[in-house]
Amino acid sequence: MNFKNKTVVVTGGAGVLGSSMAKCFYELGAKVILIDRNQEALDALVNELEGVEGIVGDVLDTLNLTSIADEIKSKHGGIDILLNVAGGNIEGATQKEDQTVFDIDPPLIDKAIELNLHGSLYPSLVFGKIMAESGAGSIVNISSMATYSAITRVMGYSIAKSGVNSLTQWMACEMARNFGDKVRVNAIAPGFFIGNQNRKLLLNPDGSLTSRSEKVINKTPMGRFGTIDELNGAVKFLCSDEASFVTGAVIPIDGGFSAFSGV
Ligand SMILES: NC(=O)c1ccc[n+]([C@@H]2O[C@H](COP(=O)([O-])OP(=O)(O)OC[C@H]3O[C@@H](n4cnc5c(N)ncnc54)[C@H](O)[C@@H]3O)[C@@H](O)[C@H]2O)c1
Repeated sequence: MNFKNKTVVVTGGAGVLGSSMAKCFYELGAKVILIDRNQEALDALVNELEGVEGIVGDVLDTLNLTSIADEIKSKHGGIDILLNVAGGNIEGATQKEDQTVFDIDPPLIDKAIELNLHGSLYPSLVFGKIMAESGAGSIVNISSMATYSAITRVMGYSIAKSGVNSLTQWMACEMARNFGDKVRVNAIAPGFFIGNQNRKLLLNPDGSLTSRSEKVINKTPMGRFGTIDELNGAVKFLCSDEASFVTGAVIPIDGGFSAFSGV
């Protein structure tokens, strides 16, 4: 797996999972560009990782993405890898323990769908076009366990991530059929990792497991959450020549959660 001087764009690159993936490619010699709306977290990473670029941007704003894409193309010549990591739960769209779905304001459900579906769709179109034109590139989307069977309280998120699986298959076929077999699109479906967007759902303020987390751990045959860098092996594989015949795949990285009925 040789990523030296490859241009790697990571949306949501200032978040917990995105920054871990970014550091992994950085350590392998890639030119890493982080796009995130969180300026403070971006600045901290750019200071820590010499040569990594941080661009404040919004994955839901196609004009903004287009100007970022133009900037990257003129500076680096193209994009080799796009990791669509921006996403997560939206406060207010997640049902509280005593709420049903009918207590959630529909526009908040829309917000969860927008961030988690359009937030991967738009960068795939804007940055994916550069890959299509060059005839090479690899996109990795982030799906979820919520696409295998229903997970309570997060309806908008679940619908959106199911859409990400469809987006992955659709773009994989489009790229291979119209732009050649060197442009590949895949996804990973993480199990449960403590990120900023789901911390409150998984941990009590004192750091102990919430009752939701206890259910998660009981349904995970490995009996634990993932550690943050445990996604990186699969991401590297999907972006490497080792995966030259892999496209349209969604790979669960979940300690067995999706394989287990719970009984
Ligand atoms: N943590 C988990 O267990 C888990 C499980 C399955 C899937 N995921 C997915 O992995 C991805 C990363 O999750 P995380 O846990 O690292 O979350 P995180 O909150 O730590 O990181 C998400 C990042 O996305 C950025 N972001 C949000 N909206 C944006 C926008 N409109 N434009 C640009 N940047 C934006 C945030 O600023 C943040 O830095 C998400 O797509 C999430 O749904 C996480």
